[in-house]
Amino acid sequence: MLKDLLRTADLDLADIERVLEYAQRSKDDPYGFRHILEGDTAVLYFNKPSTRTRLSLETAVARLGGVPIMVGPNDLQLGRGETIEDTAEVMSRYARAITIRTYSDDEVRRFAKTASVPVVNALTDGHHPCQSLADLQTLLQRFGDLSDVVIAYVGDGNNVAHSLLEAAAIVGMEMRVATPPGYEVEPEVVEVAKARAALSGAKLIFTDDAKAAVEGVQAIYTDTWVSMGDPDEERAKRLHDLEPYQVNDALMDLTRPEAIFMHCLPDHRGEEVTAEVVDGPRSVVFDQAENRLHAAVGILYAVLAGRLEGYDPS
Ligand code: CP
Ligand code: NVA
Repeated sequence: MLKDLLRTADLDLADIERVLEYAQRSKDDPYGFRHILEGDTAVLYFNKPSTRTRLSLETAVARLGGVPIMVGPNDLQLGRGETIEDTAEVMSRYARAITIRTYSDDEVRRFAKTASVPVVNALTDGHHPCQSLADLQTLLQRFGDLSDVVIAYVGDGNNVAHSLLEAAAIVGMEMRVATPPGYEVEPEVVEVAKARAALSGAKLIFTDDAKAAVEGVQAIYTDTWVSMGDPDEERAKRLHDLEPYQVNDALMDLTRPEAIFMHCLPDHRGEEVTAEVVDGPRSVVFDQAENRLHAAVGILYAVLAGRLEGYDPS
């Protein structure tokens, strides 16, 4: 049984289908899950800013009948040198689940290794599984069958790209990833995704040609060119190198007529996407944001109810 959700590739297809089923139930019947956390708490430890993830998880905990306890690094003795392991052990004695947003994936893995309650990655430098599950829900609502979806991710090969790629590989989508040289997705993630694609029939394409990548797709996805944790001194170079990968009307015109524009938000109008596109009729960014809540309910319900089996490569 899978205790934690640290990256999307921890899940197998049945897990994803289960989370999406719960997420849809959360949308259709928002107060139908109230029993599972009644009288209990879940800790949200956030070491980076957040709007959607924090608010969706706090609301999800309330919808599950519990009380969210939000803490930052300066609220905890962790900020004064208490170990991750001791912190995780203590949190497990109070709360029924721990969600963590921080920089290093290793920190979250250490939390999960010691914690006896489920740990959910609420974004690290490497992964953003909660976002990818909400995005699958959005694609499912739009297109009905995920294995028929053709999506292009254009821009920086970052945490959001990693989790979307793993999600696409598990559910059998066609995903084309267009990144400039030096901004490719991590080779380890590509390897994991290819192994999962071999099982699902997903088609994964990696290129530096944004125009070729988006030709005929049903969805274009992009994310910020400067993520939290990217050094400030890299900012100008990043904007320069990624500029040819901006999602604008000319790029959208190469897609299918029904194609949608996706972004995890926050967006930076005039950088990775133009205002015309993100504010235009093909944009589904606020449906994605809403689905963060439903997916959060689905994920927390699944881990709390012990309903995730997890991927076993053996
Ligand atoms: N998409 C997303 O994770 O947004 P926040 O950083 O606002 O949580
Ligand atoms: N890639 C972005 C996503 C923010 C939701 C970051 O890590 O800052």
